[in-house]
Amino acid sequence: MEKDLISMADFSARDIVQILDEARRLKKNRRQREDLRGKTLGLIFQKPSTRTAVSFSVAMAELGGFPLTLDAQNLQIKRGETMGDTARTLSRYLSGIMIRANRQDDVEELARHATVPVINGLTEKEHPCQVLADLQTLLDVFRIKDARGLKGFPMAYVGDGNNMTHSWMLAAGILGMKLAVSCPEGYDPTREFVEKAEALCRKSGGRVTFERDPKAAAVGAAAIYTDVWSSMGQEADVARRRDVFRPYQVNGELMAAARKDAVAMHCLPAHRGEEITAEVLDGPRSVVFDQAENRLHVQKAVLLHCLKSKGA
Ligand code: CP
Ligand code: NVA
Repeated sequence: MEKDLISMADFSARDIVQILDEARRLKKNRRQREDLRGKTLGLIFQKPSTRTAVSFSVAMAELGGFPLTLDAQNLQIKRGETMGDTARTLSRYLSGIMIRANRQDDVEELARHATVPVINGLTEKEHPCQVLADLQTLLDVFRIKDARGLKGFPMAYVGDGNNMTHSWMLAAGILGMKLAVSCPEGYDPTREFVEKAEALCRKSGGRVTFERDPKAAAVGAAAIYTDVWSSMGQEADVARRRDVFRPYQVNGELMAAARKDAVAMHCLPAHRGEEITAEVLDGPRSVVFDQAENRLHVQKAVLLHCLKSKGA
């Protein structure tokens, strides 16, 4: 069975446990493999990328497959070819498609028409691959045996209620974590994701709560997560957002409100002095480059999960 990863909610707790177990094995024993020999992954980018682009390409190469980067500027999508026709065409050539897109709807349309697995490498609504790498980071840092052990794990997300927040809320709901989200008024995560996370929490026993005061969210947290105040595509709004988000900066004072052993997390790229101070980002409690490294190991596990069809 070939599988898509369009939303964090596409994966069950069991899928996440398996993927992170595999990622841990691959991290322990990093070497050239042949699992995906003869397979080609298309990588479509409508927005810039460093980590997603490089980790997926290296992951594919180290699994024996071939990564084919496709700049959306140079595809016929740019001239109005539909996602559906693009999907039908690319499915004739490729074994899978990873796409970083402006719109989640486009990724869904691509997946509806593709006959090969489609992986979401970030949209305006979600970033599931990043959250999987972040979960692996938490397992490593806190020496947790597997993702089941994240049940009840206390963390705080501080800043913009964006794609990262959405995928984190779903992950917390799936795994039964305790996530406190703190965003300024007007920048909360969307209702759609609040409802989805609440439904998942009802099943898992997880808790996603909302606090206007970032300090209240940080109290008792073992990890404080933040992301840029202006995401890709929001460049026109940068100046206003800088003012609104100022009280939501992850700095030494906010870290002091969290648990003594709390770590600071950021998906990167970061803006030092805005959403996070240099002192925290480059300090001893920061795990941001472990998160970045884990993109590679998790991407491999995701590719094996999604692309390696039975008997292939
Ligand atoms: N965190 C992340 O997705 O980084 P890139 O935008 O560099 O891919
Ligand atoms: N929220 C950020 C994440 C970048 C990895 C953005 O969408 O630009």
